Amino acid sequence: MQNPQENFYHVVNTDPSLDEFFKNNSIKLRTSGHFEASFEKWRNTPAKHRKPCSPYVVFSPEKDQIWDSNISPKLFELDFLSGKLNYRVCRASNDASPLRKSLPQKRPVESKLIWDLCGGWGEDGLMMALWSHNVVSYESSPVVHLLAQRALEKFTHQQAPDIKIKRMHAKAEDALAKANQKPEVIYLDPMYPQTKSKALNQSEMRYLKPLANNSDNALRLLETSLNVATESVILKRPIKAEILLQSPTRSIEQGSTRYDIYNL
Ligand SMILES: C[S@@+](CC[C@H](N)C(=O)[O-])C[C@H]1O[C@@H](n2cnc3c(N)ncnc32)[C@H](O)[C@@H]1O
Repeated sequence: MQNPQENFYHVVNTDPSLDEFFKNNSIKLRTSGHFEASFEKWRNTPAKHRKPCSPYVVFSPEKDQIWDSNISPKLFELDFLSGKLNYRVCRASNDASPLRKSLPQKRPVESKLIWDLCGGWGEDGLMMALWSHNVVSYESSPVVHLLAQRALEKFTHQQAPDIKIKRMHAKAEDALAKANQKPEVIYLDPMYPQTKSKALNQSEMRYLKPLANNSDNALRLLETSLNVATESVILKRPIKAEILLQSPTRSIEQGSTRYDIYNL
């Protein structure tokens, strides 16, 4: 008989590409009981005798978790309902981040249809929806999509049932090729090319990297997006990266990040 937690994975997973992902990857899917036993055993082993082990992803009704001992001995949970992510989303209306300043600045703010083509964990998409935009986030990695989708559902169900946000498991290129309804704004946040990027200091990004897809065609994505969006395309880049396509209308820099904004 199947373990109930395994059943739970089958309940949440309606996408065959997720099975493929776990089959072909060193990242393992674990059932909750199995995972807790391995985790306890690892924790009780003295540090110098611990063997490196593959990262685990555990889906359960209460919470989904990632354990990657290469990153931290602690467990990671993508959670918009507590911790620093909750702190940020609860203050969305007062947020003065460069992402917000990159969006069309008309007052009063008009709700735009925004395609967030590199959805990731979904923090940026959620912020844009909390600023009253209508957001569609696309994510090509099946496991990132499912974890982010479930974290978003928990949050919206409890704290923001009326926001307009939808997540799709799809490649940005396919969304752009179909584009029946053209978005006013396209936001691109591809994985940064270099691995030593400061972005990896953020724990969310460190957990995302092994599960995510590299966007090695950022220039093509940008060029196609400029033909699809009707008002602007925003590209997030490391601050020192070259300008991918001349000439952005404006750029906003903060910390290690630059937002290149192309108005159409
Ligand atoms: C830097 S992360 C985005 C972080 C996101 N802005 C957030 O707030 O969490 C980039 C994401 O884009 C995804 N990605 C890469 N290439 C893609 C493509 N061609 N289509 C859709 N998603 C893609 C990666 O799997 C990764 O999750």
